[in-house]
Amino acid sequence: MCGIVGYIGHRDTRDVVVSGLAKLEYRGYDSAGIALLSKNQIEVVKSVGRLANLEQKLMTEDIDGEIGIGHTRWATHGRPSDDNAHPHQDCSGRFALVHNGIVENYLSLREELIEKGHQFKSETDTEVVVHLVEELYNGDLFSTMVQVGKHIHGAYALVVMAKDNPEEIIAMRKASPLIVGLGEGENFVASDIPAILEYTRRVLILDDGEMAVVRREGVDSFTLDGNPITKDVLEVHWDAVAAERGGYEHFMLKEIHEQPKAIRDTLRGRLETDLKRVALPELQLGAQFVQEMDRIHIVACGTSWHAGLVGKAVLEQLVRIPVEVDVASEYRYRNPVDTENTLVIVISQSGETADTLAALRDAKARGRKVMAITNVVGSSVDREADDVIITQAGPEIAVASTKAYTTQLVSLYLLAIYFAQERDTVQQSVVQDLLQELDALPQVAEQVLDSAPQIEAFAKQYSDAHDTFFIGRGLDFSVALEGALKLKEISYIHAEAYAAGELKHGTLALITKGVPVIGIATQPHLYEKTLSNIQEVKARDAFILGLTWVGNEDLQKTADEVIYLPKIHTLLAPIATVIPLQLLAYYAAVARDNDVDKPRNLAKSVTVE
Ligand code: G6P
Repeated sequence: MCGIVGYIGHRDTRDVVVSGLAKLEYRGYDSAGIALLSKNQIEVVKSVGRLANLEQKLMTEDIDGEIGIGHTRWATHGRPSDDNAHPHQDCSGRFALVHNGIVENYLSLREELIEKGHQFKSETDTEVVVHLVEELYNGDLFSTMVQVGKHIHGAYALVVMAKDNPEEIIAMRKASPLIVGLGEGENFVASDIPAILEYTRRVLILDDGEMAVVRREGVDSFTLDGNPITKDVLEVHWDAVAAERGGYEHFMLKEIHEQPKAIRDTLRGRLETDLKRVALPELQLGAQFVQEMDRIHIVACGTSWHAGLVGKAVLEQLVRIPVEVDVASEYRYRNPVDTENTLVIVISQSGETADTLAALRDAKARGRKVMAITNVVGSSVDREADDVIITQAGPEIAVASTKAYTTQLVSLYLLAIYFAQERDTVQQSVVQDLLQELDALPQVAEQVLDSAPQIEAFAKQYSDAHDTFFIGRGLDFSVALEGALKLKEISYIHAEAYAAGELKHGTLALITKGVPVIGIATQPHLYEKTLSNIQEVKARDAFILGLTWVGNEDLQKTADEVIYLPKIHTLLAPIATVIPLQLLAYYAAVARDNDVDKPRNLAKSVTVE
């Protein structure tokens, strides 16, 4: 998730592009760059780090432009560095291009282009696109870009300019957002509305598979095949702050709603097209290690630890290998029993959590192979692990983690299926079933989000509760832990998660009239047992919100309210179940008027022990 800005008009181009990038920094902030075209010359200035570094660099550069494009990056391929920052240029410096998304076939394109003599300066997937523009250029930028679109697979929002064409910018979109801002004698392109709101409220939202030719005097829209289309102009009424949050009241709510896209992005390029195998080409573990691996230790903190608990169940089920899960602050000091064939997996959204990083270093010092699952390319965890799977959640701003968790789960599913296929521990038909269901997860997440009004009403009703209990068995218990953590973090309501079968050994004493209990029952082989635990709490007059699959109508007889979830593979249930729990925490916090995105005493990234 990166931020893109483009401008053509009568203002100071450099100012418009840089101030637009500043409004998009929430989309990514590991490096930034700008390209300005003036007197048939393209000047590019880039800098690793936050936008302030680029602004500092620009202070000493005497450059100006008639048109310009800019980018603030959140790395997906290639670490944050000056070279990997956008805009990228072709060999001759004739074109400058910015990109948000993932070019899935970039490795094969890169090889082909290198064979044709192109020289690459970065490790990014994006750079192949600008060399492709150079390769296919026919004297007309628009028709060249139509050809370019036919060669690249994946997701992209692309904005490109050419030095012999100071009159236009081309913008094209497939599965990554892009809008055009309409002015008088000036026009804008951006990933998102906040970038242009200072100048105009009239906007064209490019849809998937559309492109625009943006000139000073007007904008023409086309399909990616180059056929002209007419688009409606949208009048934006949001204020600038609301626009940064995409119109949502808080970043957390925005991030909850971004989960279908984040899941889709994390799956992108990792399910082979016929949905028969998982592809994780980034892994360098080696076939021999994968065969000889005799146990897995998962180490993480907070929400990432909860993802690890789900990972344990899935890995053990599919790969039949023993898995232990530890919170990093415990693992560091417990002298774990392992072998040279143990794989240590650290999970960290930020890649900077001090305890997780220390655990990684300890494991490496003992000679263990360490794999990281992280959301931040270039983070310490990414740099120091032997192998890395990047979740493609995009920057997560709210302290309470949501889309990072679901994309960590997706990464663990992919990894478990990958190990299962390599070690032949499950039948091919099981793999295919799982892959089909994984592929459909973004739609499942969309459907679950529809339960928001029902959850909001429940949260409002119970926002003055002192204690809440989350119960479930198996994977439902792992999700219960995450649901309870979310509620504690932002609503400050005491919440406890309990393995439903363990209730009677103590917690049941706390269940009195009206105490809210969230009963999760999605695991078919445990359904009857969980149902009787829910009946136990009902007998103590608790108020029960049940979560189960559509079709389990009998839960309604016991629970006071039921959220029905679309039926999916049992192992994938946590993705569907956690979303209502995130919403529950969110709406309870809003009802209590809490600072949702910045809860008291908590930090997004805990970089001290
Ligand atoms: C903090 C955050 C949590 C997060 C945990 C681990 O406590 O508030 O949301 O789950 O750190 O962070 P990591 O970046 O390592 O996943």
